[in-house]
Amino acid sequence: MAVPGRGVVPAGEAVLRGDDRGVLHGDGLFETLHLRGGQPWLRDAHLARLRAGADAVGLALPPTGVLVELLDTVRAGWPPEVEGALRLVCTRGPEGGGPPTVYATLGEVPAAARRARRDGVTVATLPLGVTARSRPELGWLPAGVKSTSYAVSTAARRWAERAGVDEALWVSTDGYVLEAPTANVVWLTGTTLCTVPATETGVLPGVTARWLLNHAADLGLRAEERLITLADLHKTDGIWLTSSLRGLAEVTALDQTPRPRSPRTPDLLTLLGFEAG
Ligand SMILES: Cc1ncc(COP(=O)(O)O)c(C=O)c1O
Repeated sequence: MAVPGRGVVPAGEAVLRGDDRGVLHGDGLFETLHLRGGQPWLRDAHLARLRAGADAVGLALPPTGVLVELLDTVRAGWPPEVEGALRLVCTRGPEGGGPPTVYATLGEVPAAARRARRDGVTVATLPLGVTARSRPELGWLPAGVKSTSYAVSTAARRWAERAGVDEALWVSTDGYVLEAPTANVVWLTGTTLCTVPATETGVLPGVTARWLLNHAADLGLRAEERLITLADLHKTDGIWLTSSLRGLAEVTALDQTPRPRSPRTPDLLTLLGFEAG
């Protein structure tokens, strides 16, 4: 781990107080970055999302230079051949108005994430209980913020485990596909690579999905953000979950309907900088 002003601290050492509002209320933000070749992949996009989230919830982040230095400190000496999971955490700090708590952690990318990238994932849909557009329409609810409040996500993941699938996929009450608890959904229709529009729906604007769509033309594909119903998702030519550590995981079964592997998966993995196959 590393803390601004303290440098590297042993993993067992305390970095926050028991009354930190990040712990008490999940009142904080975080980013998970993929360390590859010893470098944080898409670092600036992650820092930009963190800053946008901090603005949305009124959290005073340290200057970007301090955060970059923190990431450099925690990754120093990490073996470049080992994929790393780099977390940057910023909470609102202790109760009573202390300064924000900031620290970074680094560990190995879990084997399950690498397995999902290689073998794909089985997925079952789960109602989120809101219409596709209702969250942004509320106005008061910060949308697209990577908050440390992950209780809903972990509940969904436990549900997926009980249902015997790898991942849940949230669907709105009006029938649209939203996102997975820790991943965006990307699909291919003909030669168009699509994802769900974050501003319209309040799903997290994924750094990985954005990067893929921005580079779709490299594979001769068009890119589009749009809503899709579950019925139409079944008819697409490929479905993937995207997130920083997994990169890309192909959906091999959707609500118990098996899906053939897409011939595009190796190209998409290569585009993301991973070895295909
Ligand atoms: C709810 C949610 N959606 C999407 C994503 C994927 O985002 P990214 O590609 O930036 O990791 C995450 C990442 O953890 C997430 O928690």
